[in-house]
Amino acid sequence: MIKATDFGNDFLWGIATAAAQIEGAANTYGKGVSIWDTFAKRTGKIKNGHHPEPACDFYHQYKSDLALVKILGFKIFRFSISWSRILPNGTGTVNQEGIFFYHQLIDECLALGLMPYITLYHWDLPEALSKNGGWTSFSINAHFNEFVLLCAKSYGDKAKNWIVINEPFGFTSLGYMLGIHAPGETGLQNFFAAVQHTAIAQADGGRILRSEIANANIGTTFSCSEIIPYTGNQADALAAKRIDCLINRLFVEPTLGMGFPDAEWEVLEKFNISHSTWRHKERMSFDFDFIGLQNYFPIVVKFNAFVPVIQAWEVKAKSRKKPYTAMGWEINADSFYNIIKQFAAYPNIKNIMITENGAAFPDHLINGKIDDDERIAYFELYLAALLKAKNESTNITGYMAWTLMDNFEWAEGYGARFGLVYTDFKTQQRTVKKSGYWWQAFLNR
Ligand code: BGC
Repeated sequence: MIKATDFGNDFLWGIATAAAQIEGAANTYGKGVSIWDTFAKRTGKIKNGHHPEPACDFYHQYKSDLALVKILGFKIFRFSISWSRILPNGTGTVNQEGIFFYHQLIDECLALGLMPYITLYHWDLPEALSKNGGWTSFSINAHFNEFVLLCAKSYGDKAKNWIVINEPFGFTSLGYMLGIHAPGETGLQNFFAAVQHTAIAQADGGRILRSEIANANIGTTFSCSEIIPYTGNQADALAAKRIDCLINRLFVEPTLGMGFPDAEWEVLEKFNISHSTWRHKERMSFDFDFIGLQNYFPIVVKFNAFVPVIQAWEVKAKSRKKPYTAMGWEINADSFYNIIKQFAAYPNIKNIMITENGAAFPDHLINGKIDDDERIAYFELYLAALLKAKNESTNITGYMAWTLMDNFEWAEGYGARFGLVYTDFKTQQRTVKKSGYWWQAFLNR
């Protein structure tokens, strides 16, 4: 059985969360409306009509929740700052109550000996900015920079670890192309506009943090999935390559100064993404101290001529008779290893941290206990794969599990449970799951 010490004494173990998924207090203490507050009001967008209010009521319970992080043995607490809590209109007037909340949160982490890792943008854009086009509008870059500067000036003297953006591909594709996440926009024009502005924001954010904060450790995160062709035929192999460009390469390569991967996927040219941004190539790149990788599943793809532009189709785990989680995501630790290796092969990534990994299962509270053996088995497999990758590429410096407690899982509402701690959303009572105790034993062995 592997032990935490197998990863070396300097390896950093953490737990990751995000503001809109846990805080609650969505309409109080001066917070402005975010796109998720608005999106939740649209019928049929979020399962069972759920809403990011009250989520886990973390705004009021942060002290006892951080105490749990400490008890479970993690060293890092990753959280995000809600943009509309500190800048209710996205720009201009500052909500001092919001600024104060994150001061208290950081102070409590430090008092407990936890390292705060602060994500600047984890998907909850202020609604006021969305009305003007949100991430599709070039004006977003100036507003984002204003937000980053405010955060850096407010917290930079005591918080040194920063993550600029959570999964740029995640929110630009789900929110601006497919319309299944906030703000519910669709179409390739919206998507590619959002991609360009996000790629710029990510690097601009890194530069602002660097110039404002002494000794900052600055990263950003990317969702990633090994892309596996369904068969050995050439059409499937090419389909897999296109999906790889889109899902794995679209954001990391401009960040690394390589520009968009348009040589391999000419559609990027067609949508003017390379022409309109070649002049931004410099601006989209920043020398991050670490790159965060977030992995949940591999994607198996097959050529499909009926799908416009990408001409590829996912073959789901269930139809391939592979094990999968409550989200329908394939459990495949080899693919975790493979995608880490794919990113580790970029020569100019300094350090890699796994900034999210975890699984949802249909947990049941029985006699005050949750015996989530499936989740324990999942972590055992994935950590073994991580150790193998770490032993081969020495620049993997940490791992953060997703997530502390069951929370507001975006379009899935409160139905998908990813936590190591069970949340009773009626009473806000927390119950540590068997997997939480497993982590506690793992980290303390
Ligand atoms: C996101 C989290 C989300 C998790 C599970 C990641 O893509 O960053 O906010 O809860 O996946 O779906």
